[in-house]
Amino acid sequence: EKGGYDHFMLKEIYEQPRAIKDTYRGRLLADQGLIRMAGIDLNMEKFLNANRIIIVACGTSWHAGLVAEYIFEDLARIPVEVEYASEFRYRNPVITDKDVLIAISQSGETADTLAAIKLAKDRGAFVFGVCNVVGSSIARETDAGAYTHAGPEIGVASTKAFTTQITVLTLMALKLAKAKGVFSETKYREYLTELENIPSKVEKSLESNTLIEIIADVYKDSTNCLYLGRGYNFPVALEGALKLKEISYIHAEGYPAAEMKHGPIALIDEHMPVFVIATKKGHYEKVVSNIQEIKSRKGKIIAIVTEGDEQVKELADHVIEVPETLESLTPLLTTIPLQLLSYHIAVMRGCNVDQPRNLAKSVTVE
Ligand code: F6R
Repeated sequence: EKGGYDHFMLKEIYEQPRAIKDTYRGRLLADQGLIRMAGIDLNMEKFLNANRIIIVACGTSWHAGLVAEYIFEDLARIPVEVEYASEFRYRNPVITDKDVLIAISQSGETADTLAAIKLAKDRGAFVFGVCNVVGSSIARETDAGAYTHAGPEIGVASTKAFTTQITVLTLMALKLAKAKGVFSETKYREYLTELENIPSKVEKSLESNTLIEIIADVYKDSTNCLYLGRGYNFPVALEGALKLKEISYIHAEGYPAAEMKHGPIALIDEHMPVFVIATKKGHYEKVVSNIQEIKSRKGKIIAIVTEGDEQVKELADHVIEVPETLESLTPLLTTIPLQLLSYHIAVMRGCNVDQPRNLAKSVTVE
């Protein structure tokens, strides 16, 4: 059932090229320059007339929501707010019938997300679901939706659910950008083609596995880790830290790289591993100067870089390469090495990777 892998989590990490393909199969028709999504087509006016999009989710799905915020605003020019479902539902939020709420949930059973949906519906918002489990409570409660088609995710730590959520949300943003006319045909086509190339680039990113195992062995006994990223990769830093803490029980924090100087820099010494996402596009030079600051305080630097990078390689203790892609699609690649890293560290520490202590696959309690 684990398909020859030691754990479901590893199997699911390796399933991502296929899972992402399954997510866009029948939807992304790159050669025709078309994205087909019935849930959007049938409700296009709601999206185009929306004052804003509110995204609600928990945990890893909330991180996918943060990536989506960058994508929707950048590509489709629609204002987006991302909320923890648990905070949103209890704070008497301002919602009108001009708002569109997108709920993201792998299981489709998360109690707080479900409650947030009900609240938004009561106040007249149009509610769209992005779920993995077909026929789940959230899928049934929403006005419309798009399934991720990742296939069953058994490991408690979410992996392929995250990348397929980002894939669906990217398709949605591109479709809306096209309908709004904010994209040139050339740019739109470029995105479609590049999205189609992502599964093979994820495959390529998985090839770093042996190197990552070596790196994991160096840092497996750490007690604290810092994860930094900017822009599209800030949410990936949060997700990297979450993956590490939930399965290896090492304390880890994710931060936007530029926030380091407002506090976390005080933590840096020779015992602090810092995982930095430093891909070529997206504030590269600024991240490089963050890396210099870490280095001068003797922090250990493990950097995720674009293939062929020279500058960061000079500074970092370890670099892990991912293929080049469009900036907004980089999270689909930079996430991969961070998933593998957490996995190997957890295994080396003797942790129960698929069923970490105190956690459940779906959180149906509040
Ligand atoms: C982390 C993880 C959790 C879930 C969260 C939301 O790896 O799995 O943080 O992402 O409990 O669950 P869903 O997406 O099912 O609503």
